[in-house]
Amino acid sequence: MLLHIPSLLSADDLQQARALLEDAQWQDGRSTAGHRAQGVKRNQQLPIDSPAAQQLGALIAGRLMQSPAFLSAALPLRMVPPRFNRYEGEGEYGNHVDNAIFPIPGTAQSVRTDCSMTVFLSDPEEYDGGELIIQDTFGQQEVKLPAGDAVLYPGTSLHRVTPVTRGARLASFLWVQSLVPQDHRRRLLYDLDQSIQALSADHPDHESVDNLTNVYHNLLREWSLT
Ligand code: NI
Repeated sequence: MLLHIPSLLSADDLQQARALLEDAQWQDGRSTAGHRAQGVKRNQQLPIDSPAAQQLGALIAGRLMQSPAFLSAALPLRMVPPRFNRYEGEGEYGNHVDNAIFPIPGTAQSVRTDCSMTVFLSDPEEYDGGELIIQDTFGQQEVKLPAGDAVLYPGTSLHRVTPVTRGARLASFLWVQSLVPQDHRRRLLYDLDQSIQALSADHPDHESVDNLTNVYHNLLREWSLT
């Protein structure tokens, strides 16, 4: 499932992010690419331990944990602290699949990359190209969103970023290990949750609200942490 989360970051968040990223020390993105990805990756990244990455990463992680759409769709168990990249001057990232497992720096824990997320930090008018192309079960999806918006997609997808031919494209990206590893099950739970929310808004006293909520939690109990 591909989920667009509008306005994950506020205008103030974005202003803070842009100021920090402007002064940050970027490094060649190939230093963190896997063996096969190295040949197709041409961008810059912030070192994971840079103060800008840590400060902004905490901000984005905090916003995610307050986003009902993210919580409902990703059902997060844990996540990799948000990372940051910049594409400019024909920079691109050819077709690749992300590593299945990422360590969480400074801990003994790892994250299985069930869900991937990109948070757009540049507005589409600021650059040409730089579309995130995701091979979904329903074909190829092209994603280029307003600054502050995010897209959540299955970590199992092949994906790429097309060359940036004008301007610069700043983004944050991260991976989530979900309570529910399978994308199709997360999709069912998300659809059920959305329907329960809509029903309880329109008919708060309808007895089906409790029954459906019970079904939701029983499915989550059955499918989580397996
Ligand atoms: Ni990737």
